[in-house]
Amino acid sequence: MIPLDHLDPAELFAMVSWTIAPRPIAWVTSVNPAGDHNLAPFSFFTIASTDPLILMIAIEPREDGSVKDTLGNVLSTRQFVVHIAELDRLPEVARSGDPSPPDFDELADLALPTSAATVVRPPVIDGCAAVFECELLTTHRPGLETLVFGRVVAARVAEHLISGCGRIDVAALRPLGRIGNVFTASTLLERPDRPVGTAS
Ligand SMILES: Cc1cc2nc3c(=O)[nH]c(=O)nc-3n(C[C@H](O)[C@H](O)[C@H](O)COP(=O)(O)O)c2cc1C
Repeated sequence: MIPLDHLDPAELFAMVSWTIAPRPIAWVTSVNPAGDHNLAPFSFFTIASTDPLILMIAIEPREDGSVKDTLGNVLSTRQFVVHIAELDRLPEVARSGDPSPPDFDELADLALPTSAATVVRPPVIDGCAAVFECELLTTHRPGLETLVFGRVVAARVAEHLISGCGRIDVAALRPLGRIGNVFTASTLLERPDRPVGTAS
């Protein structure tokens, strides 16, 4: 075993990001107080609570120590939208995570069509498999990253993912994920006694 205190922060980051994986990716739109759009992916992302439904993303500072646009926007306008991106969105998801100047509009850069959200101000990217409109509940900063907890105030799932009995067709949803700093797509593994789509 490698004692953790022998690792510097970069090595520790690599160790956890390659072992605690695959991680889902939250593709997040937000707006600043002037209404300018922003888009970025976050893989330190999870369900924090189901009742009420709360999602959590962890946002680290930029290398120069400044606050990323997403965090600045969420702190000032208290809203964001989490999209679950399917496999065919890989080029756009990757590009939207590239370093960019402050206030850079990745939605415009990628020419991604959007629609108005139902409750919040940030836009919804057309064609995404699942969309969660969030209002900021709280933030917590135990260390380097700021943990952003968003309460889901509206959610929708693409019709092609709803199977006949109202369940999600898990084989049709091919969400992008992250292992270390590479992308992954989910492979569904059936237990012989419990086919995919049945209760756990
Ligand atoms: C797939 C992927 C996952 C990422 N996950 C995170 C993350 O969990 N936390 C984070 O701070 N940055 C993460 N990044 C980097 C941010 O997306 C990147 O810093 C982005 O430029 C931030 O944009 P913003 O300043 O517009 O908010 C990730 C990048 C990619 C491509």
